[in-house]
Amino acid sequence: MSVERIVSATPLDAAEEKANVSLRPQNFDEFVGHAELIEKVVIAVKAARTRGEQVDHILFYGPPGLGKTSLSHIVANEMGSKIFATSGPALVRAGDLMGILTNLGERDVLFIDEIHRLSPTVEELIYPAMEDFQVDFVVDKGAFAKTVKVPLKPFTLVGATTRAGLLSAPLRDRFGIHLHVDFYRHEDICKIIRRSAGILQTEIADSAAVDLVARSSRGTPRVANRLLRRVRDFAQVKADGAITAEIAERALKMEGIDERGLDNLDRKFLRTIIDYYSGGPVGIEALAATLNEEVDTFVDVVEPYLLKIGFLLRTRQGRIAGPEAYTHLGVENLSPLDGDQPELF
Ligand SMILES: Nc1ncnc2c1ncn2[C@@H]1O[C@H](COP(=O)(O)OP(=O)(O)O)[C@@H](O)[C@H]1O
Ligand SMILES: [Mg+2]
Repeated sequence: MSVERIVSATPLDAAEEKANVSLRPQNFDEFVGHAELIEKVVIAVKAARTRGEQVDHILFYGPPGLGKTSLSHIVANEMGSKIFATSGPALVRAGDLMGILTNLGERDVLFIDEIHRLSPTVEELIYPAMEDFQVDFVVDKGAFAKTVKVPLKPFTLVGATTRAGLLSAPLRDRFGIHLHVDFYRHEDICKIIRRSAGILQTEIADSAAVDLVARSSRGTPRVANRLLRRVRDFAQVKADGAITAEIAERALKMEGIDERGLDNLDRKFLRTIIDYYSGGPVGIEALAATLNEEVDTFVDVVEPYLLKIGFLLRTRQGRIAGPEAYTHLGVENLSPLDGDQPELF
């Protein structure tokens, strides 16, 4: 990804990922919000524990920064199992996965992040592993090639993806449980900020300050935690360390984030649709080219939240700026589509 954004839902660097580990909820009780989602995971884990079996394979899908990795660790913790974490792009050859699979113990969790990026060879190997807990491993080459069936211990594959649509149907179908992780409600983001402040030993007694930081967090815990750390730094350097609403406001302003959590890239993205393409519809490739950015950047980290808050609409013909985007940016809505019901998909 070519841009580094304070409101990016993906980790900015390794140091931030490390800081996040201490803030990561470890069990069901520590996980804030999404009660219905958690209920489903609790039932799956409890049922498996009662039967003394592994949990069904689980697929978590949704935008980055919402807790997919945390949930995967929680499943393993609550099962009292070990977790092996890897990612789609890291598993290049069949052998990479073979080594991991054969080392899994009974009821262990194999977590594959970005599972939509598995190579076809690795994906082929995963089907029988998921279905029958065995792998067909080809030894030797050419005329001497033969397939050896290697039995595995019954394990749980937990996959996470920001792009469920890119998963092949056979892979998707092999997950018994599909769970969509959505953006968080404002109250839950406030709770997460308070919880994280406690862990970071930062005082944020002012509820107006919590509210401000939460509003700028795009319903995303990772962004909330990042903004909290920035606001804390600002309070330490510019004031006596206490995070007041005024301090929070100044710190967020300095980062270029507005009260809806939009940063320069979001605003530029919307302005381009409005100014260059008369409000749309415009294809994402054309937008990316105009802004000199990668399509993936927009699809993964810019669009999901704009779609969620109705600033952006996706139609078969392309992207359209929503009426609220005009109001927010303070531009007159001259879109010819205003009032029409575009066909959404
Ligand atoms: N429900 C939650 N309650 C508290 N903190 C959360 C929750 N979900 C996510 N977080 C925080 O957000 C950070 C990012 O979550 P993560 O699981 O890495 O998201 P994803 O894998 O979906 O990108 C975590 O380190 C954790 O601190
Ligand atoms: Mg993750």
